[in-house]
Amino acid sequence: MTAYQFLRKNAELAELINSTNYRLNQIINYANGTENVNYGFCCHGKYHMEYVSQVAGHVLTILGYDEHTVMLAKIAGLLHDIGNVLGRHDHARIGGEMSIYFLDKTELLFEDKRLIRHAIADHGNGNNMNHPVGAAVLIGDKAVAIKQRDIEFRKDFFKRGLITEEQLNNPSTLDIDISHIEITVADNVMKFEYFADNMCKEAHEKWLRDINVLLLEKGAAFLGYKADFIMEIQQTTNKSLKI
Ligand SMILES: [Fe+2]
Ligand SMILES: [Fe+2]
Repeated sequence: MTAYQFLRKNAELAELINSTNYRLNQIINYANGTENVNYGFCCHGKYHMEYVSQVAGHVLTILGYDEHTVMLAKIAGLLHDIGNVLGRHDHARIGGEMSIYFLDKTELLFEDKRLIRHAIADHGNGNNMNHPVGAAVLIGDKAVAIKQRDIEFRKDFFKRGLITEEQLNNPSTLDIDISHIEITVADNVMKFEYFADNMCKEAHEKWLRDINVLLLEKGAAFLGYKADFIMEIQQTTNKSLKI
């Protein structure tokens, strides 16, 4: 069993990840003096971790990195947001520190653990990027433009009457299509191709003007590529995702 397979099956890690959104709500409830309000944090749970892990692994695979490096990126993706259990503030650095607890349960070498810890600690903005694993995790995290994840998207949809109050506050009830992304490379260009439904067009255009683009460009540049963004607008389908 590889270290990645081991961590994916680790019950303690699964428990931690599954409770992240719940704990974020608890922290804000405590700060606001409210009780059991669901502030709609989504999604720093299992789906997001898995998705970032897969995208990070995919990016290094298409660039021809060896299997071991790909696995390190996948592990860093899997763990990257665990720091959220202590709140949003500084969650990347805190997650880096927390990752040691899980990484020490594996057979990984010290240098590998150090790399993963650094990639996690730096995934917020890539200001201290020093290895392709970190760039891949940054790309994985920022490439995920799923409207359910982002409270601002949901607020925007709510204002425009596209979703109900329940869907605003509880993203798992938002049963509409997600965007689908494909990342490919050709020559010196890393292409991010989004397939968004009609409904998300505006939100995604907003997103494309947002800082995520700069961070994706930064990650791609570190890997030696120029980033290119394409959005394909499709009819809304009945594909859905519960997170
Ligand atoms: Fe994060
Ligand atoms: Fe994340």
